[in-house]
Amino acid sequence: MSAEPHRVLVIVGGSVAAIKAPSLLRRLHEAGAEVQVIATRAALAFVTPLSLATAAEREIASDDTWFAPRPDAQHLKLARADVSVIVGATADLLARAAHGLASDLASATLLSVRGPVLWVPAMNEQMWTHPAVQANVATLKSWGHHFLGPVEGAFGTAGEGAGTGRMAEPEEIAAAVLALPPHKPQATSRTPDLQGLTLVVSAGPTREYLDPVRFISNPSSGKMGYAVASEAQARGANVILVSGPVNLPDPPGVQVIKVESAVQMHDAVLDAAQDAQIIVMTAAVADYRAAAPKSEKEAKTAGEVSIHLVPNPDILAALGREKAGRVLVGFAMETHAGVERATLKAQRKNADFILLNYPTQSGTAFGGDDNQVTLVRPNGSHAQWPRLSKREVAVRLLDEALQVYMQRTGA
Ligand code: C5P
Repeated sequence: MSAEPHRVLVIVGGSVAAIKAPSLLRRLHEAGAEVQVIATRAALAFVTPLSLATAAEREIASDDTWFAPRPDAQHLKLARADVSVIVGATADLLARAAHGLASDLASATLLSVRGPVLWVPAMNEQMWTHPAVQANVATLKSWGHHFLGPVEGAFGTAGEGAGTGRMAEPEEIAAAVLALPPHKPQATSRTPDLQGLTLVVSAGPTREYLDPVRFISNPSSGKMGYAVASEAQARGANVILVSGPVNLPDPPGVQVIKVESAVQMHDAVLDAAQDAQIIVMTAAVADYRAAAPKSEKEAKTAGEVSIHLVPNPDILAALGREKAGRVLVGFAMETHAGVERATLKAQRKNADFILLNYPTQSGTAFGGDDNQVTLVRPNGSHAQWPRLSKREVAVRLLDEALQVYMQRTGA
């Protein structure tokens, strides 16, 4: 924990797990955190205002206090917390947050918070695994929200449901809350410091068709590139996102160009790059494509087959050959000798820096919500960043890219 007390906003949702909230509040309090509590209307069916207020050692906020005649905007005041945690997070609360509703104090406050948000869901397994709930979770994660659990174990009253759905325990939640990266003041991550700049970001995998129904690809989710595009847009840049096939919503305010193959991505990125000052290549571009893709589906044969592959154009290297003062950022995934290989790559592709990551670390890289990267420059100097959400990696990446741009232009 930092020397300053953490101002923690605890939102208690309407789940049977809400009864664990007072224990969490006591732990946060003991750890020196300054705690504010919002209880949803449904939460108060499970846990009393008195037990929450006693544990928090202060009055709690609810729809009753929000709708009471009062001069201040209570949701905006509460949103000034350094970190927010939602315990007993229900499917309903996830849906309201993911869709930007503001019909009660909890969801209105969530629209206003700026610090990191940790969701601690509790619901029965059928609900948790429903595509609607998972889509909402994916949306919130794409905004950099964190999740803890649900975990394996009995949920609710005996026999009501086992499986994945039980809320994490208060001790674990308190530790996760206090470990959240400290809230950066709004000025650091949201000043329009990229205003007037055009950024091109590539994201996702490419697909190299062998015939109309078969292709070579990789598991890239696109989350890193979409996080860079959203963050750059929030900081005032004009953003063009060239995306391979992914399951992510288009980031608001960003021009999205959808492509499939590496050759299409090459053409789209080089075209968009003409007017760009910063280019971030997060895409996992397939290295090879079929020399002669078939126009009709190949019939299955009993024997072995071989496919003749030819190399795809290296988009970053092509940009590096005609750099014209642009800032070029690449990513590299390596299984060994990472820094050496990334240094050579940065030199060969004429990139200003490369963010190196390892596919073998759990929860990071392909498909994960976090990333653990090392920034590598062509002169071999490098710095390892802590494990961060992809959105936080995007913030730092753009800080670095802007610094290179300003040094280059003397701005
Ligand atoms: O050589 P390697 O694929 O490891 O380089 C990774 C970096 O180069 C990434 O930034 C990736 O987007 C970019 N790249 C590219 N075109 C390719 C292959 C990779 O722009 N054909």
